[in-house]
Amino acid sequence: MSVNIAVLVSGGGTNLQALLDARGSVLNSGRIALVISNNPTAYALERAKRAGIDTAVVVKKDFPTQAAFEDRLHGILREHGIDLLILAGFMTILTEGFTSRWPRRILNVHPSLIPSFCGAGFYGLRVHQAALEYGVKVTGATVHFVNEIPDGGEIIAQKAVDILPGDTPERLQRRVMEQAEWILLPQAAEQVCRELLSAKAAD
Ligand code: GAR
Repeated sequence: MSVNIAVLVSGGGTNLQALLDARGSVLNSGRIALVISNNPTAYALERAKRAGIDTAVVVKKDFPTQAAFEDRLHGILREHGIDLLILAGFMTILTEGFTSRWPRRILNVHPSLIPSFCGAGFYGLRVHQAALEYGVKVTGATVHFVNEIPDGGEIIAQKAVDILPGDTPERLQRRVMEQAEWILLPQAAEQVCRELLSAKAAD
């Protein structure tokens, strides 16, 4: 028995790659069944295709409303029998209309130690830029459940990463990915999949 996972992406997909590479080692209780992108040119889609994973593209501006966009996402996830969603660099806010349909079933990786440098407007390189501007000496990554509050759901795992003299947002982003995100995300995914399987077994 395993948990069917959909990974939602928008860009390069290095976190998706970390999940794909963790299959059979760290990630054993979940099966990556689908990759959905809101960006048709995301390199993450290539990574998925190379790994033989089904893909779908759902672009927000093709829908008249946020609710219609979210209904389509929900429909695709249901069609594929998805149990768990992982947001891995998915750069679109999901509203309560969507998140309430997947309680404790959506994970997100965020490139800072929440509650620092998170919430609306903090994504990608902007997060690292903000950390450098503030002058913090330690940052990191967080994996958390997703609810209606941007980056506000229950924290599952965190890992700290040092900021070094001469860091640029790009150098810091790379270090946070290497030392935290790519390690933490597969571990957290496995932990949640195991919990879902034990809950199912106890039913
Ligand atoms: C990652 O650093 C991820 O934590 C961040 O975007 C990057 C995506 O890289 N996500 C956010 O900022 C969400 N708030 P990837 O496409 O190579 O995985």
